[in-house]
Amino acid sequence: MSDNNINILAIESSCDETAAAVVKNGRQVLSNVISSQIAIHTIYGGVVPEIASRKHMEKINQVINQALSEAGMKLADIDAIGVTYGPGLVGALLVGVSAAKSISFATDIPLVGVHHIEGHICANYIENKELEPPFLCLVVSGGHTHLVIVKDYGKYEVIGRTRDDAAGEAFDKVARAIGLGYPGGPKIDKLSKEGNPNAIEFPRAVIDGSPYDFSFSGLKSAVLNHLNYCQMKGIEVNPADVAASFQQSVTDVLVARAIKAVKENKLNKLAIAGGVASNSAIRQALSYECEQNNIQFYHPSPIFCTDNAAMIGVAAYYEYINGIRSGWDLNAVPNLKLVSR
Ligand code: KG4
Ligand code: ZN
Repeated sequence: MSDNNINILAIESSCDETAAAVVKNGRQVLSNVISSQIAIHTIYGGVVPEIASRKHMEKINQVINQALSEAGMKLADIDAIGVTYGPGLVGALLVGVSAAKSISFATDIPLVGVHHIEGHICANYIENKELEPPFLCLVVSGGHTHLVIVKDYGKYEVIGRTRDDAAGEAFDKVARAIGLGYPGGPKIDKLSKEGNPNAIEFPRAVIDGSPYDFSFSGLKSAVLNHLNYCQMKGIEVNPADVAASFQQSVTDVLVARAIKAVKENKLNKLAIAGGVASNSAIRQALSYECEQNNIQFYHPSPIFCTDNAAMIGVAAYYEYINGIRSGWDLNAVPNLKLVSR
């Protein structure tokens, strides 16, 4: 606060990670603390919202203090507090929002509410210092599958979205069906390396009249039908082949739509974001297709793909320097939309 640097304390608690970070001048991550609840939700095969809220409450203050101390800072050094206020689980979001509002109220440090998806997109700025809008971003997480034109900092146009399941949701459901457990994405990614991606021909859904939209529920049903069929006929299932063929189907659809969107919107940069963006097959395929098409490809490291607070700090920084502040009425908004402005 005393120098020209802008330090953001960021808080993220929208799903099953309690996270806090300190980000300097938008792109320099001074600390990034993530307390994951995966171990406890694994017992139930997915995120249990009530448990998530309770665990966030237990951890939030500790995580915030750790983020400050790892950054070598005190609250007096912080210029603004960024916090995810949606979309996500309402009880989970409320913990982060309440913590951020309390600190802001007690210290007079400005408050900046951040859209979780905007945070995922901004994760690309951390390690790609040269990346600037405009570019296209494919956001693929547990709850979202969006094709977004990033027109400028804080200015987005959503040109495609899933009609049903999100890509990560499909990974998690298919993983459960083949007995891999939660969270399914990383497990399918790993098992697929031992399987044949062309073993089973699963569908690649196309939506008439909406070339940038996605649908993954038919693919999920096709996998379940295949497993049921094999069981009824007494055919032995090779889980690695099912995983690899499913992953190939998701990859083909994501890559085709993303490349088409970059070209048709006359952009030359493609970024990916969200938990599924850490998938090795998807990254490899996008990297190859981008090279073939003269498109610059950007992706965050896996730790910045899944939920974290550093990405929220980056998004909050650009909102903050654009003069955006939140009031005491900032509330958790579980179905918050990414609006174009
Ligand atoms: O972005 P994220 O941490 O949380 C949401 O905002 O939803 O994404 C979590 C999702 C889960 O569905 C998880 O299975 C998926 O990301 N995921 C992956 C991989 N790592 C995480 N999916 C495919 N391959 C991976 N390596
Ligand atoms: Zn997320």
